[in-house]
Amino acid sequence: PPKPLVNRPLPLRFSFHIMTSTGKSAIFMETVSAPTNIACVKYWGKASVEYNTPINSSISVTLDQSDLRAVTTASASESFETDRLWLNGAEEEGAATSKRFRACVDGVRRLAQDRVDPATGAVVVKRDKWAGMKIHIASYNTFPTAAGLASSAAGYAALVAALAKLFNAKETYPGELTAIARQGSGSACRSLYGGFVAWRMGGQKEDWSDSVAEQVAPETHWPEIRAVILVVSDAKKDTSSTSGMSNSVATSKLLAHRAKEVVQPRMDAIEKAWLAKDFATFGQIAMADSNQFHATCLDTYPPIFYMNDVSRSVIRAVHVYNDWAGEVRAAYTFDAGPNAVLYTLDKHAVELAALMLRFYPTEVGAEESYISNPAFASEVRSHELDPALIAAVEKTGRVPTAGDVKMMYYTKSGPGPQSLGSEEAIIDPETGLNTYLSKKRKI
Ligand code: DP6
Repeated sequence: PPKPLVNRPLPLRFSFHIMTSTGKSAIFMETVSAPTNIACVKYWGKASVEYNTPINSSISVTLDQSDLRAVTTASASESFETDRLWLNGAEEEGAATSKRFRACVDGVRRLAQDRVDPATGAVVVKRDKWAGMKIHIASYNTFPTAAGLASSAAGYAALVAALAKLFNAKETYPGELTAIARQGSGSACRSLYGGFVAWRMGGQKEDWSDSVAEQVAPETHWPEIRAVILVVSDAKKDTSSTSGMSNSVATSKLLAHRAKEVVQPRMDAIEKAWLAKDFATFGQIAMADSNQFHATCLDTYPPIFYMNDVSRSVIRAVHVYNDWAGEVRAAYTFDAGPNAVLYTLDKHAVELAALMLRFYPTEVGAEESYISNPAFASEVRSHELDPALIAAVEKTGRVPTAGDVKMMYYTKSGPGPQSLGSEEAIIDPETGLNTYLSKKRKI
């Protein structure tokens, strides 16, 4: 069989540069945006550190990109001397040689095809030319830095999606790009699809090529789903997911039990609930799984604490709210930090956010930016809560305190990565250098 051309180094004396009409080496580039996702059945623990595969399957909701997204420009040229990476405007020295970054770049490049000019249909880069080009990547995210919202999922998903577009990559099996993104950050594999997305743990194949993400249903299947995210202030630095889960695997018997016995039935039930638009079942499983994940953190030796007193007071308020309503109207979930993600339905979103605003009020002067969506914010501010509900939450001991929650995002489920026009590119097409200037954000 013919040898694959892609990774064979070009003999130098035969190589020639792909030139532009002005006689310079051409720079090829693509820009994409990618969403974040919030797991409802959590990934915690690696089966293989080398392949970055999980000890259990997980499932998540992909969030809309209007507020929270990563934007990445991937470029390649024969004139570039080394691979370079800029994050939020600053060059990351040495990042281009990190294991996670290399797995993504080299993984997508192996799937490279000819690059075709969509206007003329002409081949502008033959697939065997990619191996002779270095790449420059620039990326930023719209997550407020102090918010501690997982940005690595969106970031690695954007990286893989931008490279796939640049190299015109073709998967050799369904989900191959998600298996590559997984090696950047596990949760990133789920951000390559919109809506409700499962990451199947895999493990039947020796190379873990069966550890891939799969769309259960697109965002259009259940358009009424909403998320209210409470950004809980936290001065302390979190234990990173990677090191936290490694300690949990080494020490928590509860985690081993969870992976073996608990997760798969929950996966089956939550997928069924999602397809049937059964919010009560969906919400109960999401809450129970978040609680069990944090229980495994407490069962880790030494224990890891991601939630704080504010997080726990939100949990109490949600249970009181559901009891008052006589049905599950809201479901909380917490990742490796104190922020609360509350799932609800369109028809209850104003009421839920009004309750949260009542007990987690805005700091003076921060009113305007406290709720991400101005139209929603004005509905929330004018909503009148049932005094019985307020009294019931007060009984938990919660005293409204400004500053416990920094801000709220109001969002919904959304699609996977989107291709952006060249006007959104953050690499200069002439110099190949980053053009994004880091903006200091308040929170
Ligand atoms: C609690 O995907 O950040 O958010 O694979 O080591 O990069 P690495 O971990 P990461 O872990 C996410 C953990 C979680 C749960 C989840 O998203 O499923």
